[in-house]
Amino acid sequence: MLDAKKIKELINCDIDVFSFDCVCSTNLLAKEHGAKFLGDALFIAEAQTNGRGRLGRTFYSPENSGIYMSLTLTPRLKPEDYTLITTAAAVSVAKAIDCYLNTPTKIKWVNDIFLNGKKVCGILTEGVFEKDYSFAVLGIGINLFEPKNGFPEEISQIAGGIFENGCTESIKTDIIAKIINNFYEYYSVLPQKDFLSEYRAKDMLKGKTVDYVKNGICYTGTAQGITDTLELKVVDSNNTTHFLSSGEVTIGSKKA
Ligand code: BTN
Repeated sequence: MLDAKKIKELINCDIDVFSFDCVCSTNLLAKEHGAKFLGDALFIAEAQTNGRGRLGRTFYSPENSGIYMSLTLTPRLKPEDYTLITTAAAVSVAKAIDCYLNTPTKIKWVNDIFLNGKKVCGILTEGVFEKDYSFAVLGIGINLFEPKNGFPEEISQIAGGIFENGCTESIKTDIIAKIINNFYEYYSVLPQKDFLSEYRAKDMLKGKTVDYVKNGICYTGTAQGITDTLELKVVDSNNTTHFLSSGEVTIGSKKA
């Protein structure tokens, strides 16, 4: 497992750091921690048996392949501002990974990070809302390299790794510390959206034909970019403008 003490030394914020070989889901651990009012904390695992993805999916988290980490973020925000956490995190991760690459990563709205057309990172922010308290958990799953036996068939077309030939523990540690340091810089002034210009610069969808569903109807349109309120602006084939605030967009094959 990664050295929690080393990671704590490298990060600029005073949060607890816990490192494990294998857990069910780091998001689950971060939630349990939040419910005990113990402050912000970082949970890292080398593998997860039940990694959680967006939209009820699982996140493939085998050992020796990725970084799986979650942050408990004690409340500072209104629940409606939780999207800012995800977008700030996407930029934080992309910048950290870019330090090790010649080709820069791209962000696919809202929260997927792509490298050379393959998804290398997914982000899942979950809110916990109880009668007397609420907090957020930010989960980040990074595919550092392709697992020994390849990705499972259902994600083999989309998932990719960052490094071709593995990477050292010290690179893993450094990437984690960079992500946390980048993130807390944005998080400390989150409503200012200091990450927005970099988010836009890394927008993978702008100008592309995309398929999306709005109010149960499927559309094809051209992505126009990210608004100040982090919606994806799309113009459909009838020249109608849509602002998407959540959901999934796929890069389409049809003509808009
Ligand atoms: C997605 O792409 O659907 C989001 C995936 C988020 C996966 C990460 S891995 C660490 C953390 N723990 C989880 O169970 N999920 C998140």
